[in-house]
Amino acid sequence: MTPRYRPVKGTRDFFPPETERWAAAEAVCREIFRARGFGEIRTPILEHTELFARSVGETTDIVHKEMYTFPDRRGRSLTLRPENTAGVVRAVIEKGIATGPMPLRLYYFGPQFRYERPQAGRYREFRQIGAELFGVAGPAAEAELLEMLFAFLKSLGFVNLSVSVNSVGTAATRAAFSEALRRHLEPAAAEFSEEDQRRLTENPLRLFESKDPAVASRLADAPKTRDFLDEDSRRHHSEVRRLLADAGIPCEEDPALVRGLDYYTRTVFEVVSKDLGAQDAILGGGRYDNLVESLGGPPLPAIGFAIGEDRLLQVAPFLLPARGLVLVLPQGPEQLQDALLLAGEVRRAAPGSSVEVDLLARGFKKGLSRAGLLYEEAAARGYDRDRMFAVLLGADEKAAGAVTWKNLATGDQETFPRSELPRRFGAGRET
Ligand code: HAM
Repeated sequence: MTPRYRPVKGTRDFFPPETERWAAAEAVCREIFRARGFGEIRTPILEHTELFARSVGETTDIVHKEMYTFPDRRGRSLTLRPENTAGVVRAVIEKGIATGPMPLRLYYFGPQFRYERPQAGRYREFRQIGAELFGVAGPAAEAELLEMLFAFLKSLGFVNLSVSVNSVGTAATRAAFSEALRRHLEPAAAEFSEEDQRRLTENPLRLFESKDPAVASRLADAPKTRDFLDEDSRRHHSEVRRLLADAGIPCEEDPALVRGLDYYTRTVFEVVSKDLGAQDAILGGGRYDNLVESLGGPPLPAIGFAIGEDRLLQVAPFLLPARGLVLVLPQGPEQLQDALLLAGEVRRAAPGSSVEVDLLARGFKKGLSRAGLLYEEAAARGYDRDRMFAVLLGADEKAAGAVTWKNLATGDQETFPRSELPRRFGAGRET
């Protein structure tokens, strides 16, 4: 059957077992973030368009050509958020906590939207896990945030990742660097596409996002941000490097890293996984010491990161903890009600197992053949073969106060008193 409706291009549906992996990674993440005093914030997916133009930057690719922007019924321009930092900053100012006790530590999970060309690891709806730390100007903020990030990556089984870092300095650094870049690239401008010529005029830093090899080769010997750093930013950066080294966080200097958003000051960072194929980052972040003030709040230093959850799960080596599976099979509709009660007893006896009743009460033969299929499927998903059973409840069992179980791995079958369920499943867990 050809489906009548298809998902919107660049969006995806998720089913088990994939959703189980997402949930497990998110549970680990929440625990790690909470253990460092970060609390969850949830902000709307819809924001006023101007928020992103003012924060991410009018001339960035994101704002210029990747936003889902539309007028609402009264003609106000709204946008599906392309990232979450701007919304978090808006909310923090709105709630009045930007002038409250510091540091303020927040994290979020959620969908983001960018009108990009869909390809492996790049979607139009994708999800981010992010964290933002407000109120700390010193390098201890970088140290705390990156330690937390690496604790999470490690818990997902990553061993060989390292973070690329750079400093983009202050607004003055950016202005001087942009100007130098413009001067360096202008003689070659005629070779550039119309898009890159626009970048060159409006915001030369954005040329780092160009895919054109002619631009890339020109950028290779271009001036670097570090040539324009002020003394304080330079000192800040070497302190950051020292703290990261002390914390054992693998880190490489990348003088060409500028990131695709305009709000960054000083430290910027990215983590790229070789397993993603293209040069795509699993996560990115940095310091944004002027953003709160420029969105109408008090002067407040801040730093954060966002992990692309879709990409992260594509390459994360972690496996789900093995679970058990028990199928309770009533012989016919007469046993169905009791089968539901029995399922409750089995859940108590086998905590952590997935316990399902054959609600269609198809009888033992069909029930067991479905159990066989589920067994193969569950085993392929990493379920624990030694903890997969069918529990049969027929008229004979009911009359005798007994149940029959069948070990789905070995095919062994045994009838025993129902009161022995806890002991049996307890024993099942030990094997
Ligand atoms: P970003 O680098 O634009 O930063 O996005 C962070 C991550 O989101 C990327 O490294 C990537 O893994 C993922 N991502 C971005 N676009 C897509 C896409 N089309 N499909 C799949 N994944 C994608 C930010 O968004 C900043 N708000 C990070 C930040 C937080 N900086 C400070 N605080």
